[in-house]
This record gives sequence, C-alpha cells and structure tokens, in this order.
Amino acid sequence: MPKSKTMNVALIGSKFMGRTHSNAYLNVSKFFDLPIDPVMHTIAARDGKDLAKFAPRWGWLNHTTNWKEAVNNPEIGLVDVGTPNHVHAEQSIAALEAGKHVACEKPLAGTLDDARQMVQAAKKAKKSKTFVWYNYRRCPAVALAHQLVKAGKLGRIFHVRAAYLQDWGGPDTPLLWRFQGKLAGSGAHGDLNAHIIDMVRFVTGEEITEVVGAIEETFIKQREIIESAGGEISGKGAGKKKAKKKMGKSTVDDAVMFLARLAGGAACSFEATRLATGNKNANGFEINGEKGSLKFNFERMNELEYYDATLEGRVQGWSTINVTRGGDGHPYAGNWWPDSHIIGYEHGFVNQAADMFSIIGGKKPVVPMPDFADAYETQKVLHAVIESARQHCPIKIRSIK
Ligand SMILES: NC(=O)c1ccc[n+]([C@@H]2O[C@H](COP(=O)([O-])OP(=O)(O)OC[C@H]3O[C@@H](n4cnc5c(N)ncnc54)[C@H](O)[C@@H]3O)[C@@H](O)[C@H]2O)c1
Repeated sequence: MPKSKTMNVALIGSKFMGRTHSNAYLNVSKFFDLPIDPVMHTIAARDGKDLAKFAPRWGWLNHTTNWKEAVNNPEIGLVDVGTPNHVHAEQSIAALEAGKHVACEKPLAGTLDDARQMVQAAKKAKKSKTFVWYNYRRCPAVALAHQLVKAGKLGRIFHVRAAYLQDWGGPDTPLLWRFQGKLAGSGAHGDLNAHIIDMVRFVTGEEITEVVGAIEETFIKQREIIESAGGEISGKGAGKKKAKKKMGKSTVDDAVMFLARLAGGAACSFEATRLATGNKNANGFEINGEKGSLKFNFERMNELEYYDATLEGRVQGWSTINVTRGGDGHPYAGNWWPDSHIIGYEHGFVNQAADMFSIIGGKKPVVPMPDFADAYETQKVLHAVIESARQHCPIKIRSIK
C-alpha cells in the first residue's frame, strides 16, 4: 500500500557520510513502517561532475553545487548536513531559519561557539526538529546496553572504560580537512571521543560532571599537501595520484585521552587515537556496576557481553548476547533478518533514519535520539577536555556555558 505522507530531503555532502545517509534514505521505508516516508529530493556538494554520477546512482532526483538553493527550496522538509565540521553551523542555521527539520553529522560543530549558536537557532525554530547522527546509539547491541542499564541490571555504576582506536597509517595519510584545525575543530578528539562520550552518556543515562585530567598529542606534525585532497577525501592514502611533494602543518591532535566523573560518581577513562596501529575501528566500552557489567566492541557489533553478578556464584561468567533476536525484544532486530543473521555498519544509519521520521511523524524513537541541545552536552565535554589538557587542571562541566 503506498503511503500518503512523504517528506522531501536535501542532503549536503556526497562522500563518506553522503553515501551512508543516501543508503539510509534509500532503504529505510523498505524495512520500517513509518508515519512519513523520505523522498530523496536533492543532493548538494561541491563537485558538480561527481554529483552528476552520484545522484542517479543513489536515487537522488536532483543535484546542485549550491546548497543554499536546496536549503531554501520550499519543497524540502528535512535538510541533512553531512559536510566538514566548520560548515555545520552555517548550513544548519540557514536550514532552521528556512523552517526545515535538520539532521546534522557529529560532532555538532568544530567549536563550542558554533555549537551554541546552533542550539539557539534550534530553540527559535519552534516547529523544527533537530537530530544529530550519533549513529552508534542505534547499533542494536548499544541500544540493548542502554535498556539494560535503564532497567537497573547494573545497579550503581563504578567504572566506565571507553576507547575509540583507529589506525590511519601514521604519516602516510595526506593533509585532509580532518587534519586542519580551522575545518575540523580537532582531530581524533571530535572525530572519535565525540562518539564514545555520546555513547557513555546514552548507555549510562548519566551526564559527565567533571574532566579530571587530559592529554592531547599531535605526533605527526607535517603531512603531505595533495591538491585533490582539498577537503573532499576521507581515508588513508586517498587522492595519492595527483601527489605534489609539499608538506603542510597538521593543526589537530592525533590522540586525546582523559579521565572523568559521572553524575553518579563513577570514575571513567576515555581514549581516542588515529595511531593505534592495527586497530582499524575498535570503538567500545566496558561498564562495571554493583550488579553486573557490560562490554561492547564495534568490530563485533552484533554482540553485547553481559556479566550478571546477581546469579549464584558457581554459574557466574561473561555471556555473549547475539543481539539479533527481534522476537526476544532486541531493539531494531525485528526490522531486519531472522535470528543471528547479522547486520553491519550501514544498518545503524538506516535505524537512525527510521527514528528521525518516526519523530517527525509524532511517534517515539526506539531509543532516545540526540537533538542539538543533547549533542551540546557532548560538545561541552569535548571543550572541557581540551581546556583541561592545556591548563593541566580539572574542569567542571557546569563551568562551560
Ligand atoms: N557518524 C559517523 O560515524 C561519521 C563518520 C565519518 C564522518 N562523520 C562526520 O560527517 C561529516 C562529513 O564527513 P565525511 O567523512 O563524509 O567527509 P568527506 O570529506 O568524505 O565529505 C565531505 C562532503 O562535504 C562536501 N562539502 C565540503 N564543504 C562543503 C561546503 N562548504 N558546501 C557544500 N558541501 C561541502 C564535499 O563536497 C563532500 O561531498 C563530518 O562532520 C564528520 O565528522 C561522521
């Protein structure tokens, strides 16, 4: 039965996140019954030649190199911002002022100032909903962890260890926008710590109240400038063909680690790096509570490890839950395949698109969705960590406005 309600989407950005978001809009209505279905109206980005191929391949009806045109088109209902961090504020605020719903990639912005302006614009645009693509919340195993903590399965939380470890091939990766402070805001910190800060807030249901100490390190200070890398490329060795042997300064961190406290008193450690040789996308956490513990590692994303300390001692031990059983209530699993027919990275984005259109249609998401105000809490922690690293002192989050 065709649905009567649809909403036109304009997506800005057509590379890495452009593909994940396009895939999400393309598939979401096939797997989820939504109150409103997305229509892939316009894709906008900087490279017109590339867009001419990208648009028909991914199902976009129109393409443009003028994002303002897309944002101000009265036919568009949702604007999705999948561009580098320094343009999130300008594009999201323009879309909010044009009366659109806005979905923005993480981190909310490259700077606290930009992020604050986005929150203010969202407050003013009373009819607009805002969403931030903290997509790991929508991995079924992470969503289940959130539900288990909320149901009291861990009791009081004592420790959280969160780490997001990547390996970008040391000095081989050229000076992408991701290494340029003016464009990215920060390096591994905004890229990777942002995700694990959001996940810890989401799973524990507790805010981070204090950053107790931090270290920020740029190990590789010079990277090769490659003309074709002008901000478009994300990936090791990308754009090498047109290499010119000119070096430029990397102005972001390669690694940031910090200690923090949660509202309930738990002690936490966070670690983000692009130089964890051999760890390609090791994004995970361990949470230890008085009644049990949980462990997650994205490289085994269908699994959640659970230790139930309320069981009789002789049967206690870690159990690996394959979070694919819709019939047993595993979040999102019922919309996909039979038990143990596993899902992948892209499904988190489809699950997020489903929840965004549920919210726009007046329904509840499967698990809580971060809006701009929520993502600002993560941004405050990101900011406090850098302050703490540079000033060599603890920083209370409430001191950050
Ligand atoms: N949620 C996640 O897991 C995840 C993963 C990777 C990146 N991201 C975030 O997504 C965003 C984009 O990252 P990416 O890896 O897709 O980058 P990318 O370099 O692969 O793509 C950037 C795209 O933005 C376009 N663009 C750049 N400046 C523009 C401008 N001024 N106006 C219009 N279009 C412009 C480019 O043409 C390109 O299509 C960043 O905020 C990044 O932090 C999130």
